[in-house]
Amino acid sequence: MNKQTLIDADFKHIWHPCTQMKDHETLPIIPIKSGKGVYLKDFDDNSYIDGVSSWWVNLFGHAHPYINQKIKEQLDTLEHVIFAGFTHEPIIRLSERLCAITPAGLEKCFYADNGSSAIEVALKMSFQYHKNRGEKRPFFVSLSNSYHGETIGALSVGDVDLYKEIYEEILLPTFQAPVPKDMSEEAAREAALGLEAIFKEKGSVISAFILEPLVQCAGYMHMYHPLYITLARKLCDQYNIHLIADEIAVGFGRTGKMFACEHAGVSPDFMTLSKGLTGGYLPLSVVLTTQKIYDVFYCDYGEFKAFLHSHSYTGNPLACSAANATLDLFENEAVLEKNQEKIACMASKLEQFKALPNVKSVRQTGMIAAVELQQYPVDFRVNLKIFTYALKKGVLLRPLSHVVYFMPPYVITCNEIETMMDVAYEAIVSLNRL
Ligand SMILES: Cc1ncc(COP(=O)(O)O)c(C=O)c1O
Repeated sequence: MNKQTLIDADFKHIWHPCTQMKDHETLPIIPIKSGKGVYLKDFDDNSYIDGVSSWWVNLFGHAHPYINQKIKEQLDTLEHVIFAGFTHEPIIRLSERLCAITPAGLEKCFYADNGSSAIEVALKMSFQYHKNRGEKRPFFVSLSNSYHGETIGALSVGDVDLYKEIYEEILLPTFQAPVPKDMSEEAAREAALGLEAIFKEKGSVISAFILEPLVQCAGYMHMYHPLYITLARKLCDQYNIHLIADEIAVGFGRTGKMFACEHAGVSPDFMTLSKGLTGGYLPLSVVLTTQKIYDVFYCDYGEFKAFLHSHSYTGNPLACSAANATLDLFENEAVLEKNQEKIACMASKLEQFKALPNVKSVRQTGMIAAVELQQYPVDFRVNLKIFTYALKKGVLLRPLSHVVYFMPPYVITCNEIETMMDVAYEAIVSLNRL
């Protein structure tokens, strides 16, 4: 099929995620032919630096030879098997490794196949833990401006109006504690007081508090100090409320350490992982939890305390082989150490944005950098303008409203970081000329 046939057939049959499909009447969708390293290539042989790691999943670039090889080996061995009553080697290896590298105390892995489903699992498990022990705690607390996915439970604990507002009537009632307003310790302390106030008033009916440690990615790349996680952990302990760390976006090195909770030295009761887990190859997610929580579900059959939750593709062996290959790369290639240089490159390029009159602020946590622009009217469509400009210059950026951000694959070089951020700079400058 040629490019135009693909575009037409796509428009005829496909409903794309998070998209007003009418936009594609005037802005045709871009069929991608191939990917290699940090680049995606279209049907006109244009290459684009994937500045958003294809929705934050792609850690080691596209078509990584080692991950490719490991998936191919697995493909000839076992592509899938029902995961109730059966198991397989890739998932056992993966689980041992995840338990070894995540914060202390996380010893049990429950798998699903996307981030939102992992959130559903963590919420349900937390609720059922209390119920199995004879307590009814039907509420959850999350942070203002949070995002945890778009299934009903995950959306209920989210707080980004754009995704949530329309469904309000069918969502679970939840409480939102204030997110620290900036990256200072003072803001962390102040926000913790807000959390404490909710716990004081409602603590006995709350199952869990869920947060995105350090960076609220879909919440316009809002960032806060690790002290907040430490304080939240203490409050959760005090009120016997579970702490769920949603590391779906920030896990696997994004914040500079393997897991964002490490910045605070905190072990959550549940940790959710997905996205980078398979290096961006295949859908897989996991909820890690403690022996203490697991034990509350462990009993004779007739007591009905088991966690009766399942997904057909749970623990898919191909996805697990991609995840094991991803962890091999972290182990064998000193990725976190090498990323330090890239983090520094991003930091120095970020400086230039501060002088622009339409830039409100810039921020960075590890391999995530963001430039917040002044607010533009909705119909100005600032994100679309930046996206279109950058694409013409060979860079894939997908600003969140007025926040232009960079979350590239770790195989990016400092030269490519410069190109990516220079193009964003030009795009932002170009807004002043419109
Ligand atoms: C922090 C966080 N949690 C959960 C999700 C949902 O993951 P998925 O899109 O795989 O359902 C996302 C997705 O962006 C996320 O950023």
